[in-house]
Amino acid sequence: MTTAAQITDADDRWWETRPAGEGRLRGRAHLDSDAPSLCLDGTWDIRVGQRADGSDLGPSHRIEVPGLWQLQGFGAPQYTNIIYPIPRDVPHVPDENPTGHYSRLLEVPGDWAAARADGARILLRFQGVDSAARVWIDGAEVGITAGSRLTQEFDVTDLLTGAGPHLLEVRVVQWSVNTYVEDQDMWWMSGIFRSVDLLLRPVGGIHDLVTDADLDPATGRGTLSVRAFDADGGPLPVQVEIPELGIGQDVPAEGAVIEVGEVAPWSAESPRLYGVRISTPAESVRLRAGFRRVEIDGDIFRINGERIVFRGVNRHEADPVCGRTQNLENQDRDAALMKLHNLNAVRTSHYPPHQRFLDVCDEVGLYVICEGDFEAHGFHADMTGEDGGGAAQRPAADERFREGLVERTDRFVRRDLNHPSIVMWSIGNEAATGPVTRAMIQRVREVDPTRPVIYEQDYLAQDVDVFSLMYPSHAESEEIGRKELSEAFRDRLRSMLEHLGVTPDEDALADPPALTRPFLWIEYAHAMGNGAGALKEYMDLVHRYPSLHGGFIWEWIDHGLLTTDAEGNEIFGYGGDFGERLHDANFVADGLVLPDRTPSPALLDAKHHYAPVGLEVSAGSARLTNRYAFVDLAHLRAEVSVDDQRSWSELALPALAPGGSAEVPLPAHAGPAVTVRLLTREAQGPVPAGHVVVAASYVAPERLAAEYPLPPATVPPVREGRGWRVGPAVLDDLGRLVRLGGLDIEEAGVDLWRAPVDNERAFTEVALESRWKRIGLDAARSRLVSIEAEDAALVVTRRLGLDGSGLGADVRERLSSDGTSLVLEVDVVPSATWPEDLPLPRVGWTLSAPGDLDMIGYLGQGPHEAYPDTGGGTTFGAWASTLRDLQVPYVMPQENGNRAGVVSAHVHGEGRSLDLVMPEGLGLAVRPWSSRELDVRGHDGALRPDGRTWVTISAALHGVGSAACGPVPLPQHVLLARPVSFRFSLTARRR
Ligand code: GAL
Repeated sequence: MTTAAQITDADDRWWETRPAGEGRLRGRAHLDSDAPSLCLDGTWDIRVGQRADGSDLGPSHRIEVPGLWQLQGFGAPQYTNIIYPIPRDVPHVPDENPTGHYSRLLEVPGDWAAARADGARILLRFQGVDSAARVWIDGAEVGITAGSRLTQEFDVTDLLTGAGPHLLEVRVVQWSVNTYVEDQDMWWMSGIFRSVDLLLRPVGGIHDLVTDADLDPATGRGTLSVRAFDADGGPLPVQVEIPELGIGQDVPAEGAVIEVGEVAPWSAESPRLYGVRISTPAESVRLRAGFRRVEIDGDIFRINGERIVFRGVNRHEADPVCGRTQNLENQDRDAALMKLHNLNAVRTSHYPPHQRFLDVCDEVGLYVICEGDFEAHGFHADMTGEDGGGAAQRPAADERFREGLVERTDRFVRRDLNHPSIVMWSIGNEAATGPVTRAMIQRVREVDPTRPVIYEQDYLAQDVDVFSLMYPSHAESEEIGRKELSEAFRDRLRSMLEHLGVTPDEDALADPPALTRPFLWIEYAHAMGNGAGALKEYMDLVHRYPSLHGGFIWEWIDHGLLTTDAEGNEIFGYGGDFGERLHDANFVADGLVLPDRTPSPALLDAKHHYAPVGLEVSAGSARLTNRYAFVDLAHLRAEVSVDDQRSWSELALPALAPGGSAEVPLPAHAGPAVTVRLLTREAQGPVPAGHVVVAASYVAPERLAAEYPLPPATVPPVREGRGWRVGPAVLDDLGRLVRLGGLDIEEAGVDLWRAPVDNERAFTEVALESRWKRIGLDAARSRLVSIEAEDAALVVTRRLGLDGSGLGADVRERLSSDGTSLVLEVDVVPSATWPEDLPLPRVGWTLSAPGDLDMIGYLGQGPHEAYPDTGGGTTFGAWASTLRDLQVPYVMPQENGNRAGVVSAHVHGEGRSLDLVMPEGLGLAVRPWSSRELDVRGHDGALRPDGRTWVTISAALHGVGSAACGPVPLPQHVLLARPVSFRFSLTARRR
């Protein structure tokens, strides 16, 4: 038998010439059917080469399907965000084109014979092949795929005559004409990464199905419209049963709208599904109908009659081991984590997800914007830094792409339109606009007239139903909410359009249709590393302006890939870790969960600001606002603690209708803090009973300061050798603390530095890191000015200077003691000439002590990290942690782990301890390494404890913002160079 592996495609460069594939069946619904199927997943053979024509295929190896070959030992992953990793040379790709020639034998099940004899067809179904493939059976051509994340089916009946074994061969190329329209911000990896099956399609079977489960919110009555189609696309009569509703009805070929009477509606809050069986004598399919109505009412987006706020996130399919290969467990796990953290919406950025994800969104209740597999961002970026002619050649205006792109749109909408969780379609991401995108939008409307269409790069919302932008500032968002766009914002929109190669429509700019539509942030709050900051302020806008419908945080997960570095450390790799010449570094690690799906503090922050119940606690009461669209608070209960969360008592919760708010009195208490939390009464889906939905504290600063006083200065300083002694503290001749009680101190003093966070690093537009480092803020030098004993204290003044600069700070430390503890009162006065636009990273005080003080207990805001513009969900309490767990293992090391409002802390280990008291509540970070280590290491796995414990107190910190891809910190979160004073005590003990 001739095998296709022997075929070289020298005369047919199919990978460049077939943007619409070949031989595929029209897209149709993915159905849960009782018709037989044969899963072809498992171990296949692969021969790998560098020529798409197959002329240099190497020896045969084994490979897992589904899977990506770069993660199975063949070639390497490459990460670019915007730019193409190959020359932009449409429709061509380089001669060197990693190619995997897959093959396996298959046998047609014997019990399919009778059906085949009756005329049943056999379909070969691929659910995901990146980027294009040519398929053969027994050496005879089957067809060509197009659309990496789209289901493609071929009728292979006539090639599978006899039981077999038959040889199935799939030649997959990494680069194809499709690459130009699949330029999503993720790893470039290839292969058959979703399941492959053979489907037996009985004569008279339900080939395709279009349903719509509608609900009239006024009457609570539902309808189910059903249209079924046979293999030729012809109308098909079916029987429909909904046992729970007592429905059993014949639907004629032309379809019908079935009145189902009163039903429980489907929403993200109560995702009620009804089992539906649709059958013909030849086949039955099972559906789960969720009755709901999606409507656009002027500038309000409604579901079941109510305005919806999208508390959403953008989700790529990623896994540290198998990449975007389907992984069934991850689908359920992600949806569960989202529900546990108060998210109610997902955008499937930037392609249709694995089927199971949509199933689980239906089940647990998540509103989905389902997006097509289309991005062409690289036309708007060029390594020369110029346009490079890309905008003019964009696929959105290139007729060569029309057929393929419209077909993609048709295919992805048809596949998933029976899912109640999908409430909007997006044709794609960052691919500009033009006649082709308009045709795509049109096609969505033809295939599914029931759902709105969104597409961000239609910046003025001239063609779409919902207006969206990515990463607008709070101020711009407010202009949208107020419906008054400033000239500056209009100018920005104009230049954004020009950048796409689109001539701005001045009438539309003057009177934007966008402002008559609902608005949402299709991407915002870029969660790269430590951040994003100011989510609270975004949500405040949503609560203020009805046409602002919330949005989708960028993004769900860090796409780090598990690997080892040159020193053998296990790391989560990012761009550049796999030998790529061209890459975008750690921009691929910007999620709410770390690569292994550990929630990062940003997810906990989002949980708080996305909470369905607003909770503000003051001294004597808690203000509750029901932010659900549909349900009251009967499923929740409340508890209050007045003893730093050591005990809780029940708090009566008022029955609050959606939108309502109430002030709930709190029990009288003498302590400095009170905390309220709301918990679920019963399990719902993945959310267990007793789960905390939202919690908040009120802290009375004066009471705290009174309860945690600093010891009085009773033991005067004395000279000791060339230095000084202040109670338990020994200082050298430069006034530096070198010993405290039983503890050696290696470095101690005022600290103005923190390791930059991703939002401050080089790739941001406003890179603070380089400005900070240029003046040597990371290596400030100290000069002693004076040491004087004053009353019962020692006063040390010094000048912190920066190399090559006249900038710096005057520091005054007043040290005193009661014999047991050392009290420090610190004043920091930055130079009067400090530039106004250059914030300080931190004003604080750091010490390091040799040895592992690896257990920490503290009283303050916890349990997770907090910066001026993050830390939602932290509450005041007594928290305990290991040193390890205080660190946040961001993929790329950076400042992390600060706990806010800490009044006392006990750091201990190896029989020694250090106690801190900070009556005003300051920031505290305790680490096994220095800020410098965090600054210089490229990967969390490469960080090395240096045998010391580093304790950093922060009296003031600069906010983290979102500038890696979004706004800088809001003015109220900027740490301006200004005088800061703070005080604390240190007590060291040895057992
Ligand atoms: C957006 C894009 C996303 C992602 C993000 C930055 O422009 O749509 O795919 O690249 O920026 O992380």
